[in-house]
Amino acid sequence: MSDTNSTEKKIILSGIQPTGTFTLGNYIGAIRNWGKLQDEYRCIYCIADLHAITVKQEPAKLRQHTVEAYALLMACGIDPKKSVAFIQSHNSCHAEMNWILSCSTQFGELSRMTQFKAKSEKHPDDINAGLFTYPVLMAGDILLYQADLVPIGEDQRQHLELARNVAQRFNQKYGELFKIPEAYIPEVGARVKSLQDPTKKMSKSDENANACIFILDDKDTIVRKFKKAVTDSESCVRFGEGKDGINNLMAIYSSVTGKSYDDIEREFDGRGYGDFKLAVGEAVADHLEPVRTEFARLMNDKAYIRECYTAGAEAAERIARRTMTKAYRKVGFVDA
Ligand code: TYM
Repeated sequence: MSDTNSTEKKIILSGIQPTGTFTLGNYIGAIRNWGKLQDEYRCIYCIADLHAITVKQEPAKLRQHTVEAYALLMACGIDPKKSVAFIQSHNSCHAEMNWILSCSTQFGELSRMTQFKAKSEKHPDDINAGLFTYPVLMAGDILLYQADLVPIGEDQRQHLELARNVAQRFNQKYGELFKIPEAYIPEVGARVKSLQDPTKKMSKSDENANACIFILDDKDTIVRKFKKAVTDSESCVRFGEGKDGINNLMAIYSSVTGKSYDDIEREFDGRGYGDFKLAVGEAVADHLEPVRTEFARLMNDKAYIRECYTAGAEAAERIARRTMTKAYRKVGFVDA
């Protein structure tokens, strides 16, 4: 993407961790929107490998997952010619900005992050400083590019709020530098739930293999997981209180077919949950089929993937370095 011809377009920034294949939650809550936004906005997307090492990773696997994640983004419709798509660690501005912003972030506000609390409970033997300060790194990702909008799922809203607060605090302390970003959260599918416990979000780290759909799962696997999805005893496909399982399936079905909740209720009027679960499973599998095919094709051409992420990192660094240099001046560092 050229650096100059789209300056009036609003800027979009988002990221995803390369910790294994993406889930249907990642896809519906975030990535699917990323592709749709590319023509209207100036889009910048990163594979957040710096974030990934806040929990233990096997180095060889992280390397493999990072390249796969990049290819998956492309398979999901992110076009490196339209968007800046890069690997976070390839642009050193992210680590640099993390430090500058850390000095404008309060211990108290980081202690309130619900994801930190949840992850510390999950990994009690490794509550490292990176896990604690991770939202500052994320704030830097966003603020470096002067992003207007940040397309994310509901679970990242608190981190975005923190990024806004840190940006405002820095601007007050040192003078205007950062644009204050807004969250861009889909109306349907912002929190895709586990198929086995629909009060929890769908997450790749769920111990129950049937709880989570991965976007590279084959059709049989997807249909089987949906058949086993937990519902309720009412046997009526309608959106309502106390029907978390059905509400979740309706949100998923609606987001892959474009049908409204009214349409869905009419379509399954008088039909049982078995029919509905099968329809959702098939719709999801059919929707994801082109992604699987394109991913397989791309993975046969690793040289092309490397070419794309190298060019992406150069473009990202060019944009980010401008903000970084201004930030260094604002805080009082001597020009190099
Ligand atoms: P991550 O990698 O956990 O998730 C990537 C995106 O997927 C969304 N998401 C979901 N949406 C709906 N339902 C779900 N069950 C679900 N699970 C995940 C997330 O909200 C997210 O938008 N820290 C971020 C990555 C990041 C980032 C950034 C995001 C790094 N830098 C800058 C925005 C801006 C993360 O761990 O997302």
